[in-house]
Amino acid sequence: MHLHGTSAINDRGHLQIGGCDATELAATFGTPLYVMDEALIRQRCREFVGAFRESGLGFQVAYASKAFCVKAMCRIVEDEGLSLDVVSEGELYTALQAGFPADRIHFHGNNKTPSEIEMAIDAGIGCFVADNFTELALLNAIAAEKGRTVQVLLRITPGVHAHTHEYITTGQEDSKFGFDLKSGAAFRAVETTLGLPRLRLLGVHSHIGSQIFELPGFRLAAAKVVAFALDVRAKLGATFAVINLGGGFGIRYVDGDTPLPAAEYVGAIAASVREGFADSGYPLPDIWIEPGRSIVGDAGTTLYTIGSTKDIPGVRKYVAVDGGMTDNPRPALYESRYEALLANRANDKGEEVVSIAGKCCESGDMLIWDASLPKVNAGDLLAVACTGAYNYAMASNYNRIRRPAVVFVKDGQADVAVNRESLDDILRNDVIPARLAKQPANAEA
Ligand code: LLP
Repeated sequence: MHLHGTSAINDRGHLQIGGCDATELAATFGTPLYVMDEALIRQRCREFVGAFRESGLGFQVAYASKAFCVKAMCRIVEDEGLSLDVVSEGELYTALQAGFPADRIHFHGNNKTPSEIEMAIDAGIGCFVADNFTELALLNAIAAEKGRTVQVLLRITPGVHAHTHEYITTGQEDSKFGFDLKSGAAFRAVETTLGLPRLRLLGVHSHIGSQIFELPGFRLAAAKVVAFALDVRAKLGATFAVINLGGGFGIRYVDGDTPLPAAEYVGAIAASVREGFADSGYPLPDIWIEPGRSIVGDAGTTLYTIGSTKDIPGVRKYVAVDGGMTDNPRPALYESRYEALLANRANDKGEEVVSIAGKCCESGDMLIWDASLPKVNAGDLLAVACTGAYNYAMASNYNRIRRPAVVFVKDGQADVAVNRESLDDILRNDVIPARLAKQPANAEA
Protein backbone atom coordinates (compact mmCIF):
# COMPACT_ATOMS: atom_id res chain seq x y z
CA MET A 1 0.00 0.00 0.00
CA HIS A 2 1.23 3.43 -0.88
CA LEU A 3 1.76 5.58 2.23
CA HIS A 4 0.05 8.95 1.81
CA GLY A 5 0.75 12.15 3.75
CA THR A 6 1.98 11.53 7.29
CA SER A 7 1.30 7.76 7.09
CA ALA A 8 4.41 5.78 8.01
CA ILE A 9 5.45 2.50 9.59
CA ASN A 10 6.72 3.03 13.13
CA ASP A 11 9.40 1.08 14.97
CA ARG A 12 6.80 -1.31 16.37
CA GLY A 13 6.02 -2.28 12.79
CA HIS A 14 2.62 -0.59 13.02
CA LEU A 15 1.03 1.84 10.64
CA GLN A 16 0.94 5.31 12.10
CA ILE A 17 -0.96 8.30 10.78
CA GLY A 18 -0.53 11.84 12.06
CA GLY A 19 1.91 10.43 14.62
CA CYS A 20 -0.81 8.12 16.04
CA ASP A 21 -0.29 4.36 16.14
CA ALA A 22 -3.14 2.68 14.23
CA THR A 23 -3.42 -0.14 16.77
CA GLU A 24 -3.91 2.40 19.54
CA LEU A 25 -6.49 4.30 17.49
CA ALA A 26 -8.38 1.04 16.96
CA ALA A 27 -8.17 0.16 20.66
CA THR A 28 -9.34 3.61 21.74
CA PHE A 29 -12.05 4.32 19.19
CA GLY A 30 -13.02 0.86 17.91
CA THR A 31 -13.29 -0.31 14.32
CA PRO A 32 -14.25 0.32 11.64
CA LEU A 33 -12.73 3.75 12.02
CA TYR A 34 -12.20 6.57 9.56
CA VAL A 35 -8.87 8.24 10.29
CA MET A 36 -8.30 11.66 8.71
CA ASP A 37 -4.78 13.04 8.29
CA GLU A 38 -5.32 16.71 9.08
CA ALA A 39 -1.87 17.83 7.93
CA LEU A 40 -2.45 16.27 4.51
CA ILE A 41 -5.84 17.95 4.14
CA ARG A 42 -4.24 21.29 4.95
CA GLN A 43 -1.37 20.58 2.54
CA ARG A 44 -3.82 19.85 -0.29
CA CYS A 45 -5.71 23.09 0.42
CA ARG A 46 -2.44 25.02 0.34
CA GLU A 47 -1.34 23.42 -2.92
CA PHE A 48 -4.42 24.75 -4.73
CA VAL A 49 -4.34 28.17 -3.08
CA GLY A 50 -0.58 28.50 -3.62
CA ALA A 51 -0.89 27.63 -7.31
CA PHE A 52 -3.56 30.29 -7.82
CA ARG A 53 -1.46 32.89 -6.03
CA GLU A 54 1.32 32.09 -8.51
CA SER A 55 -1.08 32.50 -11.41
CA GLY A 56 -1.74 36.12 -10.56
CA LEU A 57 -5.46 35.69 -11.26
CA GLY A 58 -8.24 36.57 -8.83
CA PHE A 59 -9.55 33.28 -7.48
CA GLN A 60 -11.59 31.26 -5.01
CA VAL A 61 -10.93 27.63 -4.20
CA ALA A 62 -14.24 26.20 -3.00
CA TYR A 63 -14.02 22.82 -1.31
CA ALA A 64 -16.80 20.60 -2.71
CA SER A 65 -18.17 19.48 0.62
CA LYS A 66 -20.13 16.57 -0.89
CA ALA A 67 -16.84 14.63 -0.74
CA PHE A 68 -16.80 14.75 3.06
CA CYS A 69 -19.01 17.16 4.95
CA VAL A 70 -18.63 17.29 8.71
CA LYS A 71 -18.27 20.32 10.95
CA ALA A 72 -14.59 19.72 11.74
CA MET A 73 -13.82 19.60 8.03
CA CYS A 74 -15.64 22.91 7.51
CA ARG A 75 -13.46 24.43 10.23
CA ILE A 76 -10.23 23.28 8.56
CA VAL A 77 -11.33 24.50 5.17
CA GLU A 78 -12.30 27.88 6.59
CA ASP A 79 -8.95 28.09 8.38
CA GLU A 80 -7.16 27.50 5.10
CA GLY A 81 -9.06 30.34 3.45
CA LEU A 82 -11.13 28.20 1.10
CA SER A 83 -14.74 28.74 0.13
CA LEU A 84 -17.30 25.95 0.36
CA ASP A 85 -19.66 24.37 -2.14
CA VAL A 86 -22.84 22.79 -0.79
CA VAL A 87 -25.61 20.95 -2.62
CA SER A 88 -28.33 20.49 -0.02
CA GLU A 89 -29.84 21.96 3.11
CA GLY A 90 -27.95 19.30 5.09
CA GLU A 91 -24.56 20.40 3.81
CA LEU A 92 -25.53 24.05 4.22
CA TYR A 93 -26.70 23.42 7.77
CA THR A 94 -23.47 21.60 8.62
CA ALA A 95 -21.40 24.52 7.34
CA LEU A 96 -23.49 27.14 9.12
CA GLN A 97 -23.43 25.18 12.38
CA ALA A 98 -19.64 25.03 12.07
CA GLY A 99 -19.66 28.82 11.81
CA PHE A 100 -18.47 28.83 8.21
CA PRO A 101 -18.77 32.36 6.75
CA ALA A 102 -21.98 32.35 4.72
CA ASP A 103 -20.65 34.72 2.09
CA ARG A 104 -18.07 32.09 1.11
CA ILE A 105 -20.71 29.40 0.54
CA HIS A 106 -21.88 28.50 -2.97
CA PHE A 107 -25.10 26.53 -3.38
CA HIS A 108 -25.25 23.91 -6.13
CA GLY A 109 -27.83 21.39 -7.23
CA ASN A 110 -30.26 20.61 -10.04
CA ASN A 111 -33.38 20.68 -7.89
CA LYS A 112 -33.05 23.11 -5.00
CA THR A 113 -36.32 23.19 -3.10
CA PRO A 114 -38.06 26.45 -2.18
CA SER A 115 -37.22 25.85 1.48
CA GLU A 116 -33.55 25.24 0.68
CA ILE A 117 -33.46 28.48 -1.31
CA GLU A 118 -35.11 30.37 1.56
CA MET A 119 -32.69 28.95 4.07
CA ALA A 120 -29.73 29.93 1.92
CA ILE A 121 -30.99 33.46 1.26
CA ASP A 122 -31.75 33.96 4.96
CA ALA A 123 -28.22 32.82 5.78
CA GLY A 124 -26.78 35.28 3.25
CA ILE A 125 -24.76 32.82 1.19
CA GLY A 126 -22.31 34.08 -1.42
CA CYS A 127 -24.00 32.76 -4.52
CA PHE A 128 -26.29 30.23 -6.09
CA VAL A 129 -25.05 28.11 -8.94
CA ALA A 130 -28.30 28.06 -10.88
CA ASP A 131 -28.94 24.95 -12.89
CA ASN A 132 -32.12 25.45 -14.91
CA PHE A 133 -34.91 27.86 -15.91
CA THR A 134 -37.30 26.64 -13.18
CA GLU A 135 -34.70 27.55 -10.59
CA LEU A 136 -34.04 31.01 -12.06
CA ALA A 137 -37.72 31.90 -11.75
CA LEU A 138 -37.94 30.44 -8.25
CA LEU A 139 -34.81 32.24 -7.08
CA ASN A 140 -36.09 35.56 -8.39
CA ALA A 141 -39.51 35.07 -6.80
CA ILE A 142 -38.20 34.07 -3.38
CA ALA A 143 -35.59 36.85 -3.39
CA ALA A 144 -38.35 39.33 -4.29
CA GLU A 145 -40.55 38.12 -1.40
CA LYS A 146 -37.65 38.68 0.95
CA GLY A 147 -36.69 42.02 -0.55
CA ARG A 148 -33.25 40.66 -1.37
CA THR A 149 -30.98 40.34 -4.40
CA VAL A 150 -28.99 37.15 -4.94
CA GLN A 151 -25.79 36.53 -6.84
CA VAL A 152 -25.95 33.84 -9.47
CA LEU A 153 -23.55 31.73 -11.48
CA LEU A 154 -25.12 29.83 -14.36
CA ARG A 155 -24.08 26.21 -14.65
CA ILE A 156 -23.44 25.52 -18.28
CA THR A 157 -22.85 22.17 -19.94
CA PRO A 158 -19.92 22.78 -22.26
CA GLY A 159 -20.19 19.45 -24.06
CA VAL A 160 -16.83 18.15 -22.91
CA HIS A 161 -16.80 14.46 -22.16
CA ALA A 162 -13.76 14.14 -19.95
CA HIS A 163 -13.60 10.39 -19.62
CA THR A 164 -12.53 9.52 -23.12
CA HIS A 165 -9.15 10.08 -24.65
CA GLU A 166 -10.53 12.18 -27.46
CA TYR A 167 -12.46 14.55 -25.20
CA ILE A 168 -15.35 14.31 -27.59
CA THR A 169 -17.32 17.50 -27.60
CA THR A 170 -20.74 16.00 -28.06
CA GLY A 171 -22.70 13.59 -25.96
CA GLN A 172 -22.31 15.37 -22.69
CA GLU A 173 -25.21 17.63 -23.62
CA ASP A 174 -27.31 14.72 -22.42
CA SER A 175 -26.86 15.57 -18.75
CA LYS A 176 -29.34 16.34 -16.01
CA PHE A 177 -27.13 19.27 -15.01
CA GLY A 178 -26.93 22.77 -16.36
CA PHE A 179 -27.75 24.88 -19.37
CA ASP A 180 -26.50 23.34 -22.57
CA LEU A 181 -24.19 25.46 -24.74
CA LYS A 182 -24.87 23.88 -28.08
CA SER A 183 -28.65 24.21 -28.12
CA GLY A 184 -28.47 27.86 -27.07
CA ALA A 185 -30.01 27.21 -23.65
CA ALA A 186 -26.95 28.71 -21.95
CA PHE A 187 -27.27 31.91 -23.94
CA ARG A 188 -30.98 32.15 -23.16
CA ALA A 189 -30.21 31.60 -19.49
CA VAL A 190 -27.93 34.64 -19.54
CA GLU A 191 -30.66 36.74 -21.17
CA THR A 192 -33.24 35.47 -18.68
CA THR A 193 -31.01 36.20 -15.69
CA LEU A 194 -30.18 39.70 -16.91
CA GLY A 195 -33.93 40.32 -17.17
CA LEU A 196 -34.76 39.17 -13.63
CA PRO A 197 -34.50 42.12 -11.23
CA ARG A 198 -33.62 40.12 -8.10
CA LEU A 199 -30.76 38.20 -9.70
CA ARG A 200 -27.26 39.54 -10.14
CA LEU A 201 -25.34 37.58 -12.75
CA LEU A 202 -21.81 36.92 -11.50
CA GLY A 203 -20.75 34.58 -14.26
CA VAL A 204 -20.78 30.98 -15.34
CA HIS A 205 -19.85 27.57 -13.99
CA SER A 206 -18.84 24.31 -15.62
CA HIS A 207 -17.84 20.93 -14.19
CA ILE A 208 -16.73 18.18 -16.55
CA GLY A 209 -16.43 15.10 -14.34
CA SER A 210 -14.52 13.51 -11.50
CA GLN A 211 -11.25 11.59 -10.94
CA ILE A 212 -9.71 13.08 -14.10
CA PHE A 213 -5.93 12.89 -14.52
CA GLU A 214 -5.27 14.60 -17.82
CA LEU A 215 -5.22 18.30 -18.66
CA PRO A 216 -6.88 18.52 -22.10
CA GLY A 217 -10.43 18.17 -20.77
CA PHE A 218 -9.92 21.06 -18.36
CA ARG A 219 -8.26 23.17 -21.06
CA LEU A 220 -11.05 22.51 -23.52
CA ALA A 221 -13.77 23.32 -21.00
CA ALA A 222 -12.00 26.56 -20.07
CA ALA A 223 -11.65 27.51 -23.74
CA LYS A 224 -15.33 26.86 -24.42
CA VAL A 225 -16.46 28.87 -21.40
CA VAL A 226 -14.20 31.76 -22.41
CA ALA A 227 -15.55 31.67 -25.97
CA PHE A 228 -19.05 31.78 -24.51
CA ALA A 229 -18.14 34.79 -22.37
CA LEU A 230 -16.84 36.63 -25.44
CA ASP A 231 -19.98 35.76 -27.38
CA VAL A 232 -22.19 37.04 -24.57
CA ARG A 233 -20.25 40.31 -24.43
CA ALA A 234 -20.46 40.72 -28.20
CA LYS A 235 -24.21 40.10 -28.33
CA LEU A 236 -25.46 41.43 -25.00
CA GLY A 237 -22.68 43.72 -23.78
CA ALA A 238 -22.51 41.85 -20.45
CA THR A 239 -19.26 40.58 -18.95
CA PHE A 240 -18.69 37.85 -16.37
CA ALA A 241 -16.83 38.69 -13.17
CA VAL A 242 -16.41 35.00 -12.34
CA ILE A 243 -15.71 31.81 -14.25
CA ASN A 244 -16.01 28.67 -12.13
CA LEU A 245 -14.42 25.60 -13.70
CA GLY A 246 -15.59 23.03 -11.16
CA GLY A 247 -13.66 20.15 -9.63
CA GLY A 248 -12.70 16.69 -10.78
CA PHE A 249 -8.93 16.57 -10.19
CA GLY A 250 -7.86 12.94 -9.83
CA ILE A 251 -6.01 11.29 -6.94
CA ARG A 252 -3.91 8.16 -6.52
CA TYR A 253 -5.99 5.27 -5.17
CA VAL A 254 -3.85 2.42 -6.52
CA ASP A 255 -0.65 1.82 -8.39
CA GLY A 256 -1.13 3.03 -11.95
CA ASP A 257 -3.24 6.07 -11.02
CA THR A 258 -1.29 9.08 -12.24
CA PRO A 259 -2.62 12.34 -10.81
CA LEU A 260 -0.81 15.59 -11.54
CA PRO A 261 0.18 18.07 -8.84
CA ALA A 262 -2.50 20.70 -8.15
CA ALA A 263 -0.22 23.35 -9.64
CA GLU A 264 -0.39 21.68 -13.06
CA TYR A 265 -4.18 21.67 -13.17
CA VAL A 266 -4.37 25.25 -11.96
CA GLY A 267 -1.59 26.33 -14.32
CA ALA A 268 -3.34 24.79 -17.32
CA ILE A 269 -6.67 26.36 -16.42
CA ALA A 270 -5.11 29.78 -15.81
CA ALA A 271 -3.18 29.62 -19.10
CA SER A 272 -6.30 28.63 -21.06
CA VAL A 273 -8.28 31.49 -19.57
CA ARG A 274 -5.52 34.03 -20.26
CA GLU A 275 -5.06 32.77 -23.82
CA GLY A 276 -8.78 32.79 -24.48
CA PHE A 277 -9.15 36.40 -23.42
CA ALA A 278 -5.84 37.60 -24.92
CA ASP A 279 -6.19 40.82 -26.94
CA SER A 280 -9.93 40.93 -26.28
CA GLY A 281 -9.85 43.79 -23.79
CA TYR A 282 -12.09 41.64 -21.57
CA PRO A 283 -11.54 42.38 -17.88
CA LEU A 284 -10.04 39.08 -16.65
CA PRO A 285 -12.64 37.33 -14.50
CA ASP A 286 -11.83 35.66 -11.18
CA ILE A 287 -11.36 31.93 -11.60
CA TRP A 288 -13.06 29.64 -9.10
CA ILE A 289 -12.58 25.91 -8.80
CA GLU A 290 -14.29 23.25 -6.67
CA PRO A 291 -11.98 20.38 -5.71
CA GLY A 292 -13.53 17.75 -3.45
CA ARG A 293 -11.77 14.41 -3.78
CA SER A 294 -8.35 16.01 -4.33
CA ILE A 295 -8.61 17.93 -1.04
CA VAL A 296 -9.67 15.09 1.20
CA GLY A 297 -9.45 11.73 -0.59
CA ASP A 298 -5.93 10.58 0.16
CA ALA A 299 -6.08 11.98 3.70
CA GLY A 300 -8.52 9.26 4.78
CA THR A 301 -7.68 5.73 5.91
CA THR A 302 -10.24 3.22 7.16
CA LEU A 303 -9.20 0.75 9.87
CA TYR A 304 -11.03 -2.57 10.09
CA THR A 305 -10.67 -5.62 12.30
CA ILE A 306 -10.33 -8.87 10.42
CA GLY A 307 -12.77 -11.60 11.42
CA SER A 308 -13.61 -14.73 9.47
CA THR A 309 -11.68 -16.12 6.54
CA LYS A 310 -12.75 -18.66 3.96
CA ASP A 311 -10.37 -20.47 1.65
CA ILE A 312 -11.85 -22.02 -1.47
CA PRO A 313 -8.89 -24.04 -2.79
CA GLY A 314 -8.09 -23.18 -6.37
CA VAL A 315 -10.63 -20.37 -6.38
CA ARG A 316 -9.85 -17.64 -3.85
CA LYS A 317 -9.49 -16.81 -0.19
CA TYR A 318 -12.01 -14.45 1.34
CA VAL A 319 -10.95 -12.33 4.31
CA ALA A 320 -13.88 -10.58 5.98
CA VAL A 321 -13.72 -7.30 7.88
CA ASP A 322 -16.11 -5.65 10.33
CA GLY A 323 -17.31 -3.03 7.81
CA GLY A 324 -17.78 -3.00 4.06
CA MET A 325 -20.16 -1.40 1.58
CA THR A 326 -21.92 0.43 4.39
CA ASP A 327 -18.81 2.54 5.09
CA ASN A 328 -17.36 2.35 1.56
CA PRO A 329 -19.93 1.74 -1.19
CA ARG A 330 -17.54 2.81 -3.97
CA PRO A 331 -16.24 -0.65 -4.99
CA ALA A 332 -19.81 -1.95 -5.23
CA LEU A 333 -21.09 1.16 -7.03
CA TYR A 334 -18.21 2.00 -9.35
CA GLU A 335 -15.86 -1.00 -9.18
CA SER A 336 -13.40 1.39 -7.53
CA ARG A 337 -10.09 -0.08 -6.50
CA TYR A 338 -8.25 0.34 -3.20
CA GLU A 339 -5.02 -0.76 -1.55
CA ALA A 340 -4.62 -2.17 1.95
CA LEU A 341 -2.01 -3.27 4.46
CA LEU A 342 -1.99 -5.04 7.79
CA ALA A 343 -1.69 -2.13 10.17
CA ASN A 344 -0.49 -4.22 13.13
CA ARG A 345 2.17 -6.08 11.07
CA ALA A 346 2.99 -3.49 8.47
CA ASN A 347 6.51 -4.79 7.77
CA ASP A 348 5.40 -8.37 7.14
CA LYS A 349 5.82 -9.35 3.51
CA GLY A 350 2.84 -10.14 1.31
CA GLU A 351 2.44 -13.93 1.16
CA GLU A 352 -0.87 -14.36 -0.62
CA VAL A 353 -3.43 -12.50 -2.66
CA VAL A 354 -6.79 -12.45 -0.89
CA SER A 355 -10.20 -10.85 -1.42
CA ILE A 356 -11.42 -8.49 1.26
CA ALA A 357 -15.13 -8.93 1.94
CA GLY A 358 -17.47 -6.77 3.97
CA LYS A 359 -20.02 -8.09 6.45
CA CYS A 360 -23.23 -7.17 4.63
CA CYS A 361 -25.66 -9.80 3.41
CA GLU A 362 -24.83 -9.16 -0.19
CA SER A 363 -22.33 -10.93 -2.46
CA GLY A 364 -21.35 -7.62 -4.03
CA ASP A 365 -20.11 -6.37 -0.68
CA MET A 366 -16.43 -6.65 -1.56
CA LEU A 367 -13.85 -3.98 -0.77
CA ILE A 368 -10.76 -5.28 -2.59
CA TRP A 369 -10.58 -8.32 -4.89
CA ASP A 370 -6.82 -8.67 -5.02
CA ALA A 371 -5.05 -7.54 -1.85
CA SER A 372 -1.56 -8.87 -1.33
CA LEU A 373 -1.21 -9.54 2.42
CA PRO A 374 0.76 -11.66 4.88
CA LYS A 375 -1.20 -14.65 6.24
CA VAL A 376 -3.85 -12.97 8.36
CA ASN A 377 -5.43 -13.98 11.66
CA ALA A 378 -8.73 -12.98 13.20
CA GLY A 379 -8.08 -9.81 15.17
CA ASP A 380 -5.50 -8.39 12.75
CA LEU A 381 -6.05 -4.77 11.80
CA LEU A 382 -6.55 -3.93 8.12
CA ALA A 383 -5.94 -0.39 6.83
CA VAL A 384 -7.53 0.65 3.55
CA ALA A 385 -5.99 3.82 2.11
CA CYS A 386 -7.53 6.77 0.30
CA THR A 387 -11.00 6.60 1.81
CA GLY A 388 -11.34 10.29 2.71
CA ALA A 389 -13.67 11.27 -0.12
CA TYR A 390 -17.13 9.86 -0.84
CA ASN A 391 -16.85 7.19 1.87
CA TYR A 392 -18.27 8.63 5.09
CA ALA A 393 -20.26 10.94 2.80
CA MET A 394 -21.96 7.97 1.11
CA ALA A 395 -22.10 5.62 4.10
CA SER A 396 -25.39 3.94 4.90
CA ASN A 397 -27.09 1.92 7.61
CA TYR A 398 -27.81 -1.02 5.32
CA ASN A 399 -28.36 -4.12 7.44
CA ARG A 400 -28.77 -1.63 10.28
CA ILE A 401 -25.02 -1.41 10.59
CA ARG A 402 -23.85 1.55 12.61
CA ARG A 403 -21.80 4.18 10.83
CA PRO A 404 -18.19 4.33 12.10
CA ALA A 405 -16.57 7.16 14.02
CA VAL A 406 -14.32 9.70 12.31
CA VAL A 407 -11.14 10.86 14.05
CA PHE A 408 -8.79 13.61 12.95
CA VAL A 409 -5.14 12.91 13.72
CA LYS A 410 -2.30 15.41 13.85
CA ASP A 411 1.06 15.54 15.63
CA GLY A 412 0.33 12.48 17.74
CA GLN A 413 -3.10 13.67 18.81
CA ALA A 414 -6.37 12.02 17.83
CA ASP A 415 -9.71 13.81 18.17
CA VAL A 416 -13.17 12.52 17.43
CA ALA A 417 -14.95 14.53 14.74
CA VAL A 418 -17.95 12.21 14.43
CA ASN A 419 -18.98 9.71 17.08
CA ARG A 420 -19.68 6.13 16.15
CA GLU A 421 -23.42 5.68 15.85
CA SER A 422 -25.06 3.90 18.74
CA LEU A 423 -27.77 1.28 18.41
CA ASP A 424 -30.18 3.90 19.68
CA ASP A 425 -29.06 6.23 16.89
CA ILE A 426 -30.19 3.52 14.50
CA LEU A 427 -33.65 3.66 16.10
CA ARG A 428 -33.81 7.43 16.56
CA ASN A 429 -36.52 8.01 13.98
CA ASP A 430 -38.22 4.67 14.39
CA VAL A 431 -41.74 4.65 15.82
CA ILE A 432 -44.25 1.88 16.36
CA PRO A 433 -47.70 3.15 15.29
CA ALA A 434 -50.12 2.87 18.20
CA ARG A 435 -52.24 0.28 16.42
CA LEU A 436 -49.22 -1.97 16.15
CA ALA A 437 -48.11 -1.53 19.73
CA LYS A 438 -47.83 -4.70 21.79
CA GLN A 439 -50.77 -5.08 24.11
CA PRO A 440 -49.80 -5.85 27.68
CA ALA A 441 -50.25 -9.61 28.31
CA ASN A 442 -53.07 -8.99 30.80
CA ALA A 443 -54.96 -6.56 28.55
CA GLU A 444 -58.17 -8.65 28.58
CA ALA A 445 -58.19 -9.32 32.28
N1 LLP B 1 -18.30 20.56 -8.45
C1 LLP B 1 -19.40 19.94 -8.92
C2 LLP B 1 -20.42 20.74 -9.57
C3 LLP B 1 -19.53 18.56 -8.79
O1 LLP B 1 -20.61 17.97 -9.28
C4 LLP B 1 -18.52 17.81 -8.14
C5 LLP B 1 -18.65 16.37 -7.95
C6 LLP B 1 -17.40 18.50 -7.65
C7 LLP B 1 -17.31 19.87 -7.83
C8 LLP B 1 -16.27 17.81 -6.94
O2 LLP B 1 -15.65 16.87 -7.75
P1 LLP B 1 -14.30 16.16 -7.25
O3 LLP B 1 -13.23 17.23 -7.19
O4 LLP B 1 -14.57 15.59 -5.91
O5 LLP B 1 -14.04 15.14 -8.29
N2 LLP B 1 -19.55 9.83 -5.64
C9 LLP B 1 -18.58 9.80 -6.74
C10 LLP B 1 -18.16 11.18 -7.12
C11 LLP B 1 -19.29 12.08 -7.53
C12 LLP B 1 -18.84 13.46 -7.85
C13 LLP B 1 -20.00 14.36 -8.06
N3 LLP B 1 -19.68 15.73 -8.31
C14 LLP B 1 -17.39 8.95 -6.32
O6 LLP B 1 -17.40 8.40 -5.22
O7 LLP B 1 -16.44 8.80 -7.09
